Amino acid sequence: MVKITALQKRYGQGAVILDDINLEFEKGEFVSLIGPSGCGKSTLLKLIASLSPVTSGSLVVDGMTPENAREEMAFIFQEPTLLPWRTVTRNIELPLEVLHTKWDKREEICARTRKLVGLDHVPDHYPRQLSGGMKMRVSIARALSLSPKILLLDEPFGALDEMTRDRLNEQLLAIREQQKFTAFFVTHSVAEAVFLSSRIIVLAANPGRVYQDIRVPFAYPRSAETRESPEYQRCVAEVTKVLRAVNPDHP
Ligand SMILES: Nc1ncnc2c1ncn2[C@@H]1O[C@H](COP(=O)(O)OP(=O)(O)OP(=O)(O)O)[C@@H](O)[C@H]1O
Ligand SMILES: [Mg+2]
Repeated sequence: MVKITALQKRYGQGAVILDDINLEFEKGEFVSLIGPSGCGKSTLLKLIASLSPVTSGSLVVDGMTPENAREEMAFIFQEPTLLPWRTVTRNIELPLEVLHTKWDKREEICARTRKLVGLDHVPDHYPRQLSGGMKMRVSIARALSLSPKILLLDEPFGALDEMTRDRLNEQLLAIREQQKFTAFFVTHSVAEAVFLSSRIIVLAANPGRVYQDIRVPFAYPRSAETRESPEYQRCVAEVTKVLRAVNPDHP
């Protein structure tokens, strides 16, 4: 689904941000990117999403250049970035409106994705009437309304409290059981990365490069109970150790 070969990235004439990245991802993988601040995690997502150009090397998304694969991807940022004057429903349907999707189809998709994220009871609420977790669910629904093959998420739950984050993690996996997308997820939380991912890429900084490519050994579906399993806890401990090796500041 995504193939990265000898990729290098600089912004303008600046320093090398990502150097000699070689990675290949299959359809349906859930990939987390972790590593110290500034190592280039967001940059890598932006390159895949074609929000910034590759400097050298190659990046192929579903057999195409990232630019040509744009319609297959949706991006979720840390801030939900909802329009305050639009209701939950009207925020979710925004991308479809931009694409001039017919209104009956729009209604149908919107109702389905709203239900998928558990916001069926507040279709007409405005963002100011929603909790942080609910706003993020609107943002997820808005991205899913495009039925992306690839979902790119840059620390989407970083600003939420731990319980809300755990619940959203479970919901995200449940949604993925229904809408089979390939996910690229940036986080600073090892526990979150292990819970969600089939694979974790640990990046080192200066320049950003792949330090370790870790397969998470347990199967889907995963649930709240997964967090209690010794297997999960062992994996969190192992990945934490790897992250500490590239980031001495990591707790
Ligand atoms: N648009 C830009 N122009 C110039 N330099 C940039 C730009 N965006 C990012 N950088 C630089 O690229 C490096 C990597 O930034 P990036 O945002 O990808 O890191 P990150 O791993 O996502 O960090 P964090 O964990 O803090 O979000 C940083 O040194 C940053 O200053
Ligand atoms: Mg970042």
